[in-house]
Amino acid sequence: MARITASVYTSHVPAIGAAIDLGKTDEPYWQPLFKGFEFSKQWMQAHRPDVIFLVYNDHATAFSLDMIPTFAIGTADRYKPADEGWGPRPVPDVIGHPELASHIAQSVIQDDFDLTIVNKMDVDHGLTVPLSLMCGQPPQSDFAWPCPVIPFAVNVVQYPVPSGRRCFELGKAIRKAVESYDEPLNVQIWGTGGMSHQLQGPRAGLINREFDNMFLDRLIADPAGLATLPHIDYVRDAGSEGIELVMWLIARGAMSDVPRGASADVAGGAPPTLRHRFYHVPASNTAVGHLILENN
Ligand code: DHB
Ligand code: FE
Repeated sequence: MARITASVYTSHVPAIGAAIDLGKTDEPYWQPLFKGFEFSKQWMQAHRPDVIFLVYNDHATAFSLDMIPTFAIGTADRYKPADEGWGPRPVPDVIGHPELASHIAQSVIQDDFDLTIVNKMDVDHGLTVPLSLMCGQPPQSDFAWPCPVIPFAVNVVQYPVPSGRRCFELGKAIRKAVESYDEPLNVQIWGTGGMSHQLQGPRAGLINREFDNMFLDRLIADPAGLATLPHIDYVRDAGSEGIELVMWLIARGAMSDVPRGASADVAGGAPPTLRHRFYHVPASNTAVGHLILENN
């Protein structure tokens, strides 16, 4: 049986990718941010999974207003870094895991979550920046990410977007899917995007440390309660792009302390261990939050 061993949560900001790619990580502006991920890179080396299930959002890169899937699972064997206007990032292609992805699609769709199946797409900063933060820049001698990745894209860009509650429930279904896969794979699930930020309009630049830290506290200790937070609260308190945070609830819902099943008939296990917590402002227009939780 495959097992989810840990969940990782981190913001994405395109400028973080540019800082890494242009060798600016030691500059005074960026140094405190990258320091917060030093532990994480070591942890990643010591806890290298077989597969990462990476929940992220596409920013009108692979998708557009032509087509807006609410939840899209990547079942391809390879994904190219997208050109977001400045050429593709100089990072490796993302190698997929079509067998596990197809199994998860089958299980989750049969559990009544409607997923879009994606067999071809490029992946933007929403996916590659979290990989860079956690894995560092892959060396030229072995230009590859440490393991296969299943991209799972959530629409948090164009309304209507899914509720936190639905995201949390989806996480439970993903855990059930992983645990019904025959091979003994070590799977991590990552929730990315957020924290508070607003990129346009009169409130552009909004940061809310109090909301962000409340969100981190409750994601750790009261995820089911946090999942009931309505959209309007995210938008009012964390800014229009703060809604990216609902994606963290997918990863948290897949952790083994969360009871699951149609009527929560599978009891939850012990709470996860908090391995790392980090919060930093500013990074471009965004507050950066980061957690590592290990299943027990
Ligand atoms: C920024 C943050 C984002 O989440 C994003 O998708 C684009 C830009 C920023 O802070 O610059
Ligand atoms: Fe974003």
